Amino acid sequence: MQTATSTILSLALISAAVAVPVASIAKARADNGILNLLAQSNLLGSSADPDITAECFNHFSPILNQISTNFSVQYEQCVTVASQAAANLSAKAAQNRVAFVNETSAICSAFTSCHSDTANLDFFNCYATAASTDINEIYNLSTDASNAAISLKGGLQQIKDTEDICTNTAQSTYTEKTSETFKELNECFVNGLPTASTIAIN
Ligand SMILES: *[C@@H]1O[C@H](CO)[C@@H](O)[C@H](O)[C@H]1NC(C)=O
Ligand SMILES: *[C@@H]1O[C@H](CO)[C@@H](O)[C@H](O)[C@H]1NC(C)=O
Ligand SMILES: *[C@@H]1O[C@H](CO)[C@@H](O)[C@H](O)[C@H]1NC(C)=O
Ligand SMILES: *[C@@H]1O[C@H](CO)[C@@H](O)[C@H](O)[C@H]1NC(C)=O
Repeated sequence: MQTATSTILSLALISAAVAVPVASIAKARADNGILNLLAQSNLLGSSADPDITAECFNHFSPILNQISTNFSVQYEQCVTVASQAAANLSAKAAQNRVAFVNETSAICSAFTSCHSDTANLDFFNCYATAASTDINEIYNLSTDASNAAISLKGGLQQIKDTEDICTNTAQSTYTEKTSETFKELNECFVNGLPTASTIAIN
C-alpha cells in the first residue's frame, strides 16, 4: 500500500517536472512539501513505526532539497552561458555590420564625387565609371550580407541547441536523482535507514 502510494506520487511528480521546466524549481520545493504532508499524515508510512517514518523523512528531505538546489543552479548556468554566448555573437555581428555600412558609404561616395563635375559630359562619364566599378561591389555586398545573415542565424540556433541540451541534462539529472531518492525513501519506510547511512549521519 505505502509502496504503491509513493510510487504513484513519484511518477506524478516526475512527469510534472519533465513537462514544466521553467517552474521546476518552485515545483521541486512543492514536491517536498507534499511529501512532508504525506509523511506527517502517515499516509506513506501507515503500517510503519512512526519513529522510522520520521527518521526516514529527516534523512531524505535534505537530500531532496539538495537535488532541487543543484537543479536550479545547473539550470541557471545553462541559461547564463547561452545568453552570454548570444551577447558575444551579437557584438561580433555589430562589428561586422560597421564594415558593411562602410562599404556602402564608399559606393555612394563614388557617385557623389561626380556631383562636383561641372561639365555634363564629365558628370555622365564619371557616373558610368562609378556604376561599372560599384556593380561588382554590390554583388559582393549581397553575397557577403547573405552569408553574414546565414552565419548569424546558424550561430544563434547552435547556442539555443546547446542551451536545450544543457537544460534537458539538468532536467533528467533532477528526475533520475529524485526518482532514485524516492525509491530509497520507500525502502526506508519498510526497512528503516540502511546501517551505513545511519553511521554516516550520526
Ligand atoms: C549537488 O551538487 C554537488 C556539486 O556538484 C554534488 O557534489 C552533490 O553530490 C549534489 N548533491 C545531490 C544530492 O545531488
Ligand atoms: C563571451 O565573451 C567574454 C569576453 O570576451 C568571454 O570571457 C566569455 O567566455 C564569452 N562567453 C561565451 C559563452 O562565449
Ligand atoms: C572604413 O573605411 C575607412 C576608409 O574608407 C577605413 O579606414 C576603415 O578601416 C574602415 N572601417 C571598417 C570597420 O571597415
Ligand atoms: C568581395 O568580398 C571579399 C571578401 O569579403 C573581398 O576580399 C573583396 O575585396 C570584395 N570585392 C569587392 C569588389 O568588393
